[in-house]
Amino acid sequence: MPDTISEIKRRRTFAIISHPDAGKTTLTEKLLLFGGAIHVAGAVKSNKIRKTATSDWMEIEKQRGISVATSVMGFDYEDYKINILDTPGHQDFAEDTYRTLTAADSVIIVVDIAKGVEVQTRKLMEVCRMRKTPVIVFVNKMDRDGKDPFDLLDELERELKIQVRPLSWPIDQGSAFKGVYNIYQEKLDLYTPSKQHVTESIEFQDLNNPELEAHIGDPLAKKLRTDLELIAGVYPELNVESYLEGNVAPVFFGSALNNFGVKELLDCFVRIAPSPRPVQAEERLVYPEKDAFSGFIFKIHANMDPNHRSCIAFLKICSGKFERNQYYKHVRFDKMLRFSSPTAFMAQKKETIDEAFAGDIVGLPDTGNFKIGDTLTMGEELHFKGLPHFSPEMFKYIENADPMKSKQLAKGIDQLMDEGVAQLFTHQFNGKKIIGTVGQLQFEVIQYRLAHEYGAQCNWDAISLYKACWIESDSPEELENFKRRKFQYMAFDKEGRDVFLADSAYVLQMAQQDFKGIRFHFNSEF
Ligand code: G4P
Repeated sequence: MPDTISEIKRRRTFAIISHPDAGKTTLTEKLLLFGGAIHVAGAVKSNKIRKTATSDWMEIEKQRGISVATSVMGFDYEDYKINILDTPGHQDFAEDTYRTLTAADSVIIVVDIAKGVEVQTRKLMEVCRMRKTPVIVFVNKMDRDGKDPFDLLDELERELKIQVRPLSWPIDQGSAFKGVYNIYQEKLDLYTPSKQHVTESIEFQDLNNPELEAHIGDPLAKKLRTDLELIAGVYPELNVESYLEGNVAPVFFGSALNNFGVKELLDCFVRIAPSPRPVQAEERLVYPEKDAFSGFIFKIHANMDPNHRSCIAFLKICSGKFERNQYYKHVRFDKMLRFSSPTAFMAQKKETIDEAFAGDIVGLPDTGNFKIGDTLTMGEELHFKGLPHFSPEMFKYIENADPMKSKQLAKGIDQLMDEGVAQLFTHQFNGKKIIGTVGQLQFEVIQYRLAHEYGAQCNWDAISLYKACWIESDSPEELENFKRRKFQYMAFDKEGRDVFLADSAYVLQMAQQDFKGIRFHFNSEF
């Protein structure tokens, strides 16, 4: 399998994450430009790419102009095959992003120099930490005034709970921004406003060379030398192993809008970021290059074409080579399935492919065979771990608003939950169904889709809950005792596991205090 091995080794599959507005879309677009995946000269406004490069498959997306979906953009750069997993910009769809992270082999986090680490970035970083995903930070908008870079590094370490190592260093910022010293490549990259790219890239190993003054002037040259000395003293040299283990994050500075520092980021990224790594299945560790084909479904995208009720299931290939028209085992169904029109996603277009390799994402047309987490293999019984649900932030009772359509409603809820649109809990006490989401928008999407795809009507009824916790205990008696005492607050999740619905932080705290033998988990994979 020499070809398969080299194909896998050249793959870099990653997600770009950020708090909305930090510049994720702009950075994605510039990366696509470098890969020749799109051909738009100069700086294109970010909302343009929303219309062109990202998907507008779902009706609701068009209506709201928000990228609800997560799409994939693949392209070749030098000898590498790059797959960028786009994540929804809107924070109400964070659960979608969490799942996308399970398919990413590494992550680039975009941070705004003025705003620093924001809520959404912190949450997404928690998921990366759980999975030990290697992370690179791109500090964006250096053409604007913002925080002191050293303060920002401290903030990154504190807020993201990861060590950092700058690999480039800004020379001033805002309207005085002169460029960066590229520590990784030992180059001086100079910036001219309005030129929208690196205007001069000069090999510059010896910072004591007086040429530095000629390029950036006396005070800035002095400051750069002192800054770099401080960096060398405080931050150990980048240890790539340590980055790959998720312990240290290299940091780059630049301006995505001005296409400054993006190529430098990309050039370092392809060299140090991991090719697909071994994936833990319940049964064993699966090796991308050694093992036969296997993969899992991490996302289901409904209604590409409103005339046909079809979905597309996104398959992340974990090992080996996938081939069109081959029979693969759908492990949950214990059935062999064949795919005649698998697709790959190349920036703006979708095309049928004959083969794909570990690291790649393949779109499989689906008519209801798949749910999130399903595994495909050559025949082996494998179940991939690592597709956790997180405690939702908002909860509502879902009620049937049309008694003639209760079957449609039940089916719709069932399928939407399998797709991972939101989480369903069933009250153990009164059998009522509760939908848990990350944000208000998800309730609207569910209502809309139930009506348009299933002909079902629903109403939402308020319920005041703080968190849903999955519970377990080594003592069956204590667990029973807890469930008896809290029977009004117990629910089943979709898999029938016990979930405690705490209605306030205080109640949760008291429960944790009173029931020391019970472990409370805020995600379903403990
Ligand atoms: P997001 O996907 O993370 O939500 O962010 P997006 O790329 O859409 O960028 C958010 C805004 O920040 C956009 O401006 C974009 O042009 C701007 N931006 C991105 N990178 C830079 C940068 O390096 N410097 C500066 N000064 N601005 C940057 P907008 O006004 O919201 O949209 P637009 O009308 O400019 O497209």
